[in-house]
Amino acid sequence: MDRNTKKIVIAVDGFSSCGKSTMAKDLAKAIGYIYIDSGAMYRAVTLLALRRNLFLPDGQVDTEKLRTILPNIRITFTLNSEGRPETCLNGENVEKEIRGLEVSSHVSRIAALDFVRSELVRQQQLMGQEKGIIMDGRDIGTCVFPNAELKIFVVASAEIRAQRRYDELTAKGEKVQYEDILNNVQERDRIDTTRAVSPLRKADDAIELDNSHLTPEEQKEWLMEQFNRVIASL
Ligand code: DC
Repeated sequence: MDRNTKKIVIAVDGFSSCGKSTMAKDLAKAIGYIYIDSGAMYRAVTLLALRRNLFLPDGQVDTEKLRTILPNIRITFTLNSEGRPETCLNGENVEKEIRGLEVSSHVSRIAALDFVRSELVRQQQLMGQEKGIIMDGRDIGTCVFPNAELKIFVVASAEIRAQRRYDELTAKGEKVQYEDILNNVQERDRIDTTRAVSPLRKADDAIELDNSHLTPEEQKEWLMEQFNRVIASL
């Protein structure tokens, strides 16, 4: 069988701002797989909760109302003119909005709700039924696809991730302090790894990739080697 007929599931998990989605997207394009950004799905639910005023003044979520609307939420992905996936919420393209500060600062509350996780995990598993998929997130190798043929767990030091984020933002002309970004990265790590439901952890059979000192090219090459190795072993 050739590479195209043997389809696998690739799970990419890791800390925030590790470059997971860029690497997963690049690999998906190179091997003709579907790429799914599971974080975008949590962000889309958060956007809907914000629009429906489901965040209470004390910061808690109105879970009763969210439970009633959740079954009707449809999250899909569409390719833009450059071939990049964009997130749609009930048919509306919300890619830009879900990356904004408002959603970013509320999403961890939504991602900590077990009933939201079980619904999104169900939808993610359906997307992977036919294989030929790369999904990135925090619980893909542990919960969503525990039988994925290739699992990558990406790490990089908090300082390096903060520096990358700082460079990205200052290049866009934003005035930011490195210390603030570092604090934010460390706080997000703490929330991701200590939450009660599906905390971020490396699956026992995941391969760790520390990309602190890798160039994007070296990383691409490494990933392609892992993919080819798994395909050849099938
Ligand atoms: O990767 P991201 O920053 O877009 O993720 C947004 C939020 O969703 C973040 O709080 C982590 C959470 N998340 C999660 O809990 N499980 C996933 N599979 C993906 C993201």
